[in-house]
Amino acid sequence: MKAIGVFPGKPGSVHLAEAPAPTLDQVPNGRGVLVKVLRVGVDGTDKEINAAEYGAAPPGFDYLIIGHEGFGQVEAVGPNVTGLAPGDYVVATVRRPGHSIYDLIGTNDMTTDSTYYERGINLRHGYLTEFYVDDADFIVKVPKGLKDVGVLLEPTTVVEKGIFQAYEIQRRLKVWKPRKAAVMGAGTIGLLATLVLRLRGLDVTTFGRTAKPYLNASLVDDLGARYVSTKDISVGDAAQQFGPFDLILEATGNSGVVFDAMQALGKNGVLVLTSVTGGERKIEVPADKINLDFVLGNKVMVGSVNANREYFELGVRDMSQAELEYPGWLGRLLTDPVKGLENYQELFRKLTSPNGAIKVYCQVTES
Ligand SMILES: NC(=O)c1ccc[n+]([C@@H]2O[C@H](COP(=O)([O-])OP(=O)(O)OC[C@H]3O[C@@H](n4cnc5c(N)ncnc54)[C@H](OP(=O)(O)O)[C@@H]3O)[C@@H](O)[C@H]2O)c1
Repeated sequence: MKAIGVFPGKPGSVHLAEAPAPTLDQVPNGRGVLVKVLRVGVDGTDKEINAAEYGAAPPGFDYLIIGHEGFGQVEAVGPNVTGLAPGDYVVATVRRPGHSIYDLIGTNDMTTDSTYYERGINLRHGYLTEFYVDDADFIVKVPKGLKDVGVLLEPTTVVEKGIFQAYEIQRRLKVWKPRKAAVMGAGTIGLLATLVLRLRGLDVTTFGRTAKPYLNASLVDDLGARYVSTKDISVGDAAQQFGPFDLILEATGNSGVVFDAMQALGKNGVLVLTSVTGGERKIEVPADKINLDFVLGNKVMVGSVNANREYFELGVRDMSQAELEYPGWLGRLLTDPVKGLENYQELFRKLTSPNGAIKVYCQVTES
């Protein structure tokens, strides 16, 4: 069967691979689920794997099938699978268990191991192919009503985890009732964070660089949130005007913005960092002032990566609610479809020069 692969360690090696078709008996204990892939989203991680910044092939292969934002339909299930049947729409999680205590209790997104097993990223094949098989434990059912937007579930889980963790941490305050939130970044992750925070009833200010009018700003406005271009107002001034922010989620990909966010955070607030920054950026910051405000304001900053099954299930619930509260909004993120695995070069061209794209995805097959 066809697949989009890279040779890890070799920059620009994305190619159409011929991969062996998976079978149910590859999964032990009759727990296999065979999935026909319908759509797969791509993001900065795929770009970085093709640039050979990280990524590893599974044992026995010299290539890695990429793609971790999958969406598909169950083709067949093993004899010991319950709750899933052929025809169901599904999304598979990304990280597979390692060996730490966190992996053993199903929270492999919190692993302390140094090796990650991640489908489409490290040591496990991904979803940019025709079929895959996996243990039912890692397959999450998506309601039929979300079939046109189900490919957005994996990126949604990134913000679900970050926001859920923020609320968990703030139980320290006994009476925390957040009212105002900020989101740094209005790309796919920032927009989905804005959505989830609006669904939680918060007043949300979302920052980007591009000046209005443009699609991402309209999407923010249409959620009843506020888009602020840092070309018009600095983060500090906006915090004075629209804060104090009880919760900030940072998703710009720019580590410098973290320090702006630290200064914009209100007393007793929580700042969630999600940007994966592989560079070597160095900046000068007012360290004493930032530290003092954090100490005197009892503030928290936390990093958040990946997501376990719990956040996929939470994502399904929030996406369902989003379709009721903001009908059609999720679908507007799906700006750039590319038909067929064989058009992998176009997929990567759109990914590397986004030109206003929000979500680039491969339409592997029509359902
Ligand atoms: N933690 C995880 O598990 C996880 C998972 C997936 C992704 N991520 C990370 O999430 C981050 C965001 O991903 P994405 O796909 O949403 O990225 P994206 O599409 O590149 O969006 C980045 C957004 O940040 C804005 N921005 C960049 N620099 C800024 C600045 N100095 N001030 C204000 N806004 C700025 C951009 O605005 P303009 O377009 O107007 O310039 C854009 O709206 C990335 O760093 C990615 O690595 C993390």
